[in-house]
Amino acid sequence: MAVNTHQDGKLRIERLSGSLGAEITGIPLTAAGPAEAGRLRELLREHLVLFLPGQHLDPDQHVAFGRLFGELESHPNLDLRSERPEFFQLHARGGQGGIADEWHSDLSCADEPSVLSILQMAKCPKVGGDTLWANMYRAYETLSPAMREFCEGLSALHDADPHGHSERTAIHPVVRVHPETGRKSLFVNEHFTRRIVELSHQESDALLGFLVRWATSPRFTVRYRWTAGTIAIWDNRCTQHHVLDDFEGDRLIQRVTVMGDHPKPAAPSRWDPYIAPLSAASRHDRQLSNHLRDRAEPRGGASR
Ligand SMILES: [Fe+2]
Repeated sequence: MAVNTHQDGKLRIERLSGSLGAEITGIPLTAAGPAEAGRLRELLREHLVLFLPGQHLDPDQHVAFGRLFGELESHPNLDLRSERPEFFQLHARGGQGGIADEWHSDLSCADEPSVLSILQMAKCPKVGGDTLWANMYRAYETLSPAMREFCEGLSALHDADPHGHSERTAIHPVVRVHPETGRKSLFVNEHFTRRIVELSHQESDALLGFLVRWATSPRFTVRYRWTAGTIAIWDNRCTQHHVLDDFEGDRLIQRVTVMGDHPKPAAPSRWDPYIAPLSAASRHDRQLSNHLRDRAEPRGGASR
């Protein structure tokens, strides 16, 4: 596309970077129905993350809008007394932690990781607290043919350690296929991914270290500066994101999440899980061993 802005009926669509992200105006989400959700899904397949400023949805409107995209899930960190179990709110104060300042795909530690996230920035600092997203199709497609083929035969262990539950683990393909676009994307991230299942832990550290750095190269990313009342919708199957903890003051996000599915591998598993006998000192070897024992499934594709 040669231009970065175009008008589509009432919609104005502005691309925000060469890799992904578009700002959409001219669509009030309080009045959105299945037709509008269908159009937004098309735009999401093209741009991977959409930003819709000036929406100011109340929690019921936010949940109703989210349901247009599928069944919503509860977040593992939710207060169970909440009236709306699918409505997640996180209030962070600058410099005091509590934000996702590592690259991740939402809940990749789950057997069925979140498909879409729909976030409203309810309150944001005057400056700072931007969020970055990265395009995992591009991260995969720009690897060498040899590395692409190697990675397609691998799977990786993810855990919920960032939520205080390192015993909750899942195994997903390193390269997954998007069920709607048929495109392959890289599916490892620094926040939740611990170990490549088919390699020794030393080899895994080297490859995983490379892949998570590669996946978030600046040329695959977009950085968004928030205003209060903006809704962002992103596809966790082909993106990662990272919040910048560089702000002072309050930052309040509200989010609903569309339930996940089993990531489909790009290729059948080619090798068995590998745990060298002398590497028991590795915490992630023990985690992998426990996961395989608990699931007791043949070959490495335990969670596929
Ligand atoms: Fe997140």
